[in-house]
Amino acid sequence: MKTTLLFPTPYWHDQECGVDREKLLEFVNYVKSEDPQGRRATNDGGWQSWDFIDSVMVDNPLRQLRDKILERAYRACDEWGFQDYTLKILNLWINVNKRGNSNLLHTHAGSILSGVYYLKVPECCCGNLTFYQPFHENCLKESWGCDANFNRYQDMNETEHDVYPEEDSMLLFPAWLSHSVSASSTDDERISLSFNITAFSNQYNEIYPGR
Ligand SMILES: [Fe+2]
Repeated sequence: MKTTLLFPTPYWHDQECGVDREKLLEFVNYVKSEDPQGRRATNDGGWQSWDFIDSVMVDNPLRQLRDKILERAYRACDEWGFQDYTLKILNLWINVNKRGNSNLLHTHAGSILSGVYYLKVPECCCGNLTFYQPFHENCLKESWGCDANFNRYQDMNETEHDVYPEEDSMLLFPAWLSHSVSASSTDDERISLSFNITAFSNQYNEIYPGR
């Protein structure tokens, strides 16, 4: 008997990106000191920067990370089935969470692919990233049985999926996939950089430059 998985949702995880973290950390601390207020978005506490756009990143210390993001995003989108396309990073922002800080359930509307790079991760308990199955499917599944009747941790059945942050790792995921970050319970800083990417057709190569 053959099993078919319908409409699987991918995410991509690179555990070792080789970013110069010392240099990036220096930049993050500089931005934070220049703009201690930051902005308030999905973050419940903590500090979040305003957006960096691509044309700014190519000329500042975010360049190396920006290039590594695009390299991985192309690999992911090739695998995802994209053809004859160009990717653009729409925006990137810095998140600093400390004890008690979290990020509420959200999606990254308006883009195709989103992701996060973990720059600094405390030894323990700094908050996982959790992906959620679409709510209506989740409810249907939850309505049947209890844990004794149903292995909710099996791939086909899980309703939530946790990813543990690791330093120098990067995640890429469909922008519409709901996710949240649980509260940190350590005093050490958890620093990540999140980003959104969109895709253009290469039909008009003279308008949209190729990769
Ligand atoms: Fe997010």
